[in-house]
Amino acid sequence: MPPDATPQPSRALSGIQPTGRFHWGNYFGAIRQYIDLQPGAHQAADEAYYFIADLHALTTVRDPDRLRSLVHAAAVDLVALGLDPERAVLFIQSDVPEVTELSWLLMTVTPMGLLERCHAYKDKKNRGLPADAGLFTYPVLMAADILAYDATVVPVGEDQVQHIEVCRDLAGTFNHLYGEVFTLPKPRLVEGGAKVPGTDGQKMSKSYENTIEVFEDPSAQKKKIMRITTDSRPMEEPKDPVGDHLFELYSLMASEADRTRMAELYRRGGFGYGEVKKALVEVSAACFADARDRRAALESDRGRIEAILAAGAAKARARAGKVLARAKRACGLSRGETVAPAANAAKGKQA
Ligand code: ADP
Ligand code: TRP
Repeated sequence: MPPDATPQPSRALSGIQPTGRFHWGNYFGAIRQYIDLQPGAHQAADEAYYFIADLHALTTVRDPDRLRSLVHAAAVDLVALGLDPERAVLFIQSDVPEVTELSWLLMTVTPMGLLERCHAYKDKKNRGLPADAGLFTYPVLMAADILAYDATVVPVGEDQVQHIEVCRDLAGTFNHLYGEVFTLPKPRLVEGGAKVPGTDGQKMSKSYENTIEVFEDPSAQKKKIMRITTDSRPMEEPKDPVGDHLFELYSLMASEADRTRMAELYRRGGFGYGEVKKALVEVSAACFADARDRRAALESDRGRIEAILAAGAAKARARAGKVLARAKRACGLSRGETVAPAANAAKGKQA
């Protein structure tokens, strides 16, 4: 445990990339969990830090105006969806330069082989696409994001677990070399490892163009829902709701009673998928109605979001500054005392 953090509170932290508007997969797979972990919520951590990962997004979004507008929209969406700036620290990744400095310190203890095995880079390389050093070192910046705040728990989807392992590895190596500088975080997966299906039944993802965006225009959203692929079994045939992606989507938003009723309809047969789609249009509209109202209010008050982000950045910088100073002292970059001189003396100081 780092010396200036006694006793250690549980601190949730996560980042989300502003590479597109949030879709149902992002909400049910990630954002809802952030909200559940806010202090005061039912699965609360003692503190919660959430940020918009614009530095990571730079590896894919190359249009500055688009990036700016996506970052703003992400902030508005998160607050509208229930992220409460009174209870959680909400900020933009690039507003905390301490993190990029920390990422260099971590880079010096990162084996190339570890990054070569990371999936974002490996997938791109296997597809014969050119990869830049930003994508290659992406997991190191992510490790800095986590370690800079002494995060103890990182809510993520399954696809990010490998990156948390890298973070733990790097923190462990740094601590081994220089003393107990970093807190080792744990990933926290969505209960049941939920994978929200897209309109084609595969995992919903921007890359598969099968998303339904949370705040999409209602009539465009309705069209997408009505076009969700289904099998072509005749209407009379009883169907198993389990594993049916339309039913899965409906279940995410319907009440327990409606879900049971719909499952019975499936098992009984004699209905069309069109009816389920119409029901999905209704439950999804109801599920996000309050959030849409909150979004509209925030949209007309630009100053409010800017103030939230500025206050978030100030809090985040204060914490990251302490951790960075600790790390710099420990590895000999500043003239202060090292964190654990005894451990350093025993191990030698080679980086
Ligand atoms: P995309 O696949 O659309 O590019 P991201 O990779 O930006 O989405 O995902 C951001 C977060 O949302 C991650 O934590 C990821 O695990 C979660 N997420 C994205 N799509 C889904 C999905 N279909 N089901 C569950 N979680 C998802
Ligand atoms: N890599 C994450 C994603 O694509 C986003 C991210 C950046 C993140 N830094 C993080 C998530 C730190 C958790 C913790 O979804």
